[in-house]
Amino acid sequence: MQIAILGAGNIGGTIGEKWAKAGHTVRFGVRDPQKPQVQSLVKSLGANASASSIADALRGAKVVLFAIPGKTMAEAIAAHAPALDGRILIDATNNIGAESVNSFPAFKQHTPNASIYRTFNCYGWENFKNPIPGADLFYAGTDGAAKKTIEQLISDVGLHPVYVGGVDQAALLDGVLGLWFALAGGQKMGRKLAFKVLTN
Ligand SMILES: NC(=O)c1ccc[n+]([C@@H]2O[C@H](COP(=O)([O-])OP(=O)(O)OC[C@H]3O[C@@H](n4cnc5c(N)ncnc54)[C@H](OP(=O)(O)O)[C@@H]3O)[C@@H](O)[C@H]2O)c1
Repeated sequence: MQIAILGAGNIGGTIGEKWAKAGHTVRFGVRDPQKPQVQSLVKSLGANASASSIADALRGAKVVLFAIPGKTMAEAIAAHAPALDGRILIDATNNIGAESVNSFPAFKQHTPNASIYRTFNCYGWENFKNPIPGADLFYAGTDGAAKKTIEQLISDVGLHPVYVGGVDQAALLDGVLGLWFALAGGQKMGRKLAFKVLTN
């Protein structure tokens, strides 16, 4: 699968590594593809990874993962709306302190034909690098065929996907982030904290 990852930092770099190793073609869309950290990341991932401008990374991508600062999201989505609309978009960003922590309002405004998902936002990046076996990862978004793709991509990172509902449930993932912060930081349980749903 051809995937564009906007941002090549903790989140973009970690998840990109997992997806490249799973056999996907990953192109990091960044402001400066020549930046040494970006170049060494791409080199370490081999033939399945490359870096380019955001516009070039979006060309031909089936899926786009957003891993840039939350406060830059509205501008990025508006600037690349024609290239993003109709694709599978994943919002892993957190715009802490803003009216909406997720960027679904901007997706709804600028990319009305995209399949939009909220996930990878609610754990520290360490849980994507070295997942606890059996841990769940919640996701919300478009209730359509693209859910299969999201579940595959979550599994490729080493977590178990749990669908919590449609586009109207995106803010639930912001709440999960709040719970994660309260336990990992507030209750000093540590950043390697993940959730598991039990039923019987
Ligand atoms: N860190 C975590 O554990 C964690 C967990 C879940 C979700 N998140 C969310 O994931 C997102 C990324 O976090 P991170 O920890 O990966 O951050 P990071 O390590 O600082 O990486 C941020 C990336 O975004 C790029 N970037 C910065 N400003 C940009 C702009 N205006 N336009 C385009 N690209 C820009 C940076 O590129 P340059 O090198 O050019 O600055 C870098 O590649 C944030 O929204 C964060 O809230 C983080």
